[in-house]
Amino acid sequence: LFKLQIDSLMSLMTLEEKIGQTAMYSGGWDKTGPTISDHNRTYIREGNVGAMLNVYSAKATKNLQKIAVEETRLGIPLLFGYDVIHGHRTIFPINLGMAASWDLELIKQSARIAAEEASAEGIHWTFAPMVDIARDPRWGRISEGAGEDVYLGSQIAKAYVKGFQGDDLAANNTVLACAKHFAGYGAAQAGRDYHTVDIGTNELWNTYLPPFEATVNAGVATFMTAFNELNGIPASGNNFLFREVLRDTWDFKGFVVSDYTAINEMISHGFATNEKDAARLAMNAGIDMDMMGNVNKQYLKELITEEKVTKQTVDEACRKILETKFKLGLFDDPYRYSNATREKETIYKKEYLDAARKSAAAASVLLKNDNKTLPITPDKKIALLGPLAKDEESIIGNWAAAGDRTGKAVSIYEGLLEYVDKRNILYAKGCTIDSTEAGNFDQAIRIAKDADIILLAMGEHYHMSGEAASRTSIKLPGLQSEFIKKVAAEFPDKPIVLILMNGRPLDLSEEHLLVDAMLETWFPGTMGGAGIADILFGTYNPSAKLPVTFPRTIGQVPIYYNMKSTGRPITPSHPSEDYKSNYLDSPNTPLYTFGYGLSYTDFEYEVTANSTVLTPLSSIQVTAEITNTGDYDGEEIVQLYIHDKVRSTTPPVKELKGFQKVFIKKGESKKVIFTITTDDLKFYNQQLKQVAEPGEFEFFVGGNSELPYTHHFKLEEK
Ligand code: IFM
Repeated sequence: LFKLQIDSLMSLMTLEEKIGQTAMYSGGWDKTGPTISDHNRTYIREGNVGAMLNVYSAKATKNLQKIAVEETRLGIPLLFGYDVIHGHRTIFPINLGMAASWDLELIKQSARIAAEEASAEGIHWTFAPMVDIARDPRWGRISEGAGEDVYLGSQIAKAYVKGFQGDDLAANNTVLACAKHFAGYGAAQAGRDYHTVDIGTNELWNTYLPPFEATVNAGVATFMTAFNELNGIPASGNNFLFREVLRDTWDFKGFVVSDYTAINEMISHGFATNEKDAARLAMNAGIDMDMMGNVNKQYLKELITEEKVTKQTVDEACRKILETKFKLGLFDDPYRYSNATREKETIYKKEYLDAARKSAAAASVLLKNDNKTLPITPDKKIALLGPLAKDEESIIGNWAAAGDRTGKAVSIYEGLLEYVDKRNILYAKGCTIDSTEAGNFDQAIRIAKDADIILLAMGEHYHMSGEAASRTSIKLPGLQSEFIKKVAAEFPDKPIVLILMNGRPLDLSEEHLLVDAMLETWFPGTMGGAGIADILFGTYNPSAKLPVTFPRTIGQVPIYYNMKSTGRPITPSHPSEDYKSNYLDSPNTPLYTFGYGLSYTDFEYEVTANSTVLTPLSSIQVTAEITNTGDYDGEEIVQLYIHDKVRSTTPPVKELKGFQKVFIKKGESKKVIFTITTDDLKFYNQQLKQVAEPGEFEFFVGGNSELPYTHHFKLEEK
């Protein structure tokens, strides 16, 4: 694509100008928004910059673009990249929450809206989606991904790419997506951010790489390196990842950017001797653009003279970056994204806020609902207690870079006001999120005396998850658990609902015994409080299911539903048996399993399959007839799990292989059909070939991952 134009442009470029295209620098911030230093302006003017990050707004991007286009020798436009992670201005639930919706259309729509808003503010490129599989809730960035499962994660990865990029990169309302962080970032040792990653071949190919491959198949335009090392080689200098896997095996044609100063960090990793050596390693490994490291600019020319990097390698990097700029149409009109009128008309459109509200409800997982505590009728007097009840800062979560934390978001309190009269909401904070200094429990208890129902809004501060926000404890921080205990002890006869906001699975083993209902809302975004109120009052019947396991205790981590059997699996009826793979002090099972989530209604399943034999040329049709037997219309996320009983590398005890979200009116039934083919049974074997091996399989279809197998089939060779 654009070969002739690029050839002709590159024939005019000096080596310095080509190197300039491979460098990205960051703008700064102050209260007024993005700021640009004189130093950056000079760099751009000298033709040393290919892309900028952290600069947005039609005005700021236009001003900088003007320098690149009008004041440099060849007028090559800049690329503007930004972290548009779960919304741009209109903030959607954090990505882990969006994943809990299991709603691929909704996820795609959220990315589409984010792209509409971001592109109207001059942004061409988002550093999303993060498709790292994460199974360790201590890791703060678990909040930014789709959770623990390879199948769900891969489907969601594709939905984001399609949403951001649309069908046409040349349209001025689409943005380039970026699959990150290649690879293994989610497997940081002990959940500590940036820590060492060592993943065996089997796990790497069967669990960690497939979501990335899915983004390539969906046409993702760019990739980002991970900060971590993978099996002894830092990602930003990793030939195997970026040349062998990404380019040679998956045939990725876009360009690769390093994470922020990740090239330089190879020195601290003990892999590069100095910055020059780091530049050499990264460029030779196929890292086309250096984010903020300033090493390409400083050393590539010298490295070429010394024949440590070839001109051709730099040419290839430059060509891919230019090709991307051509694809976006920037050579036709470099200002096409920076349009102040469009910006004004686009951000916070009513329809975007409505979609964010629906998403907040669709992302919230009802973990517990004893005695039908929820939904509430609007005639009730409500005590709304807790540090997150009136919060408008944390509710939009981490990585909401252009999100407004100063009052734009709808708090839970404001959400309730749509349903109940102010006089019927009795508010007290009770304690802060994370301080251990005595809270004002007494005032809260006094207030709650008059209420019919108590809502506790609790969880984490937004800066407790995201980058560099790992925790060794996954309990509710500060005095919040104490507060819950106190409220539960004072009011044994009043219904208590715990509404949670957090960026990771929490250990709720004490809390779930103390309250009647629990709603996991993650960080639900700009319209969070409204979406939560829709659930509390039954306008929206909860449908979300956990995309990640909630352990009983941090000691079980890593814990995920698709574990291996081991040679000494427990017998479920005798879980504590000696010399079996178990703990002395905890069951193996989690508190809440992957795929779990309640509804206000009930669903019954009847599952049939049209065959018990599968061949490479045939398929098995599985029909699940689901009946809504409860009192509310509702959506169910119908999940298919398969178990390969024996194979040449040991199988997980179950694997999600399909899901569908269906709406069923009360009293009605719907059929959901899954078609199993050999493709669904494939895995990477010891020779790293994707194969389905003949033998026995079992499966079940249901509403969570912990159900027993009900069906079986045999895969025959022909
Ligand atoms: O996109 C991010 C990345 O995920 C973590 N480091 C900084 C980048 C740019 O802000």
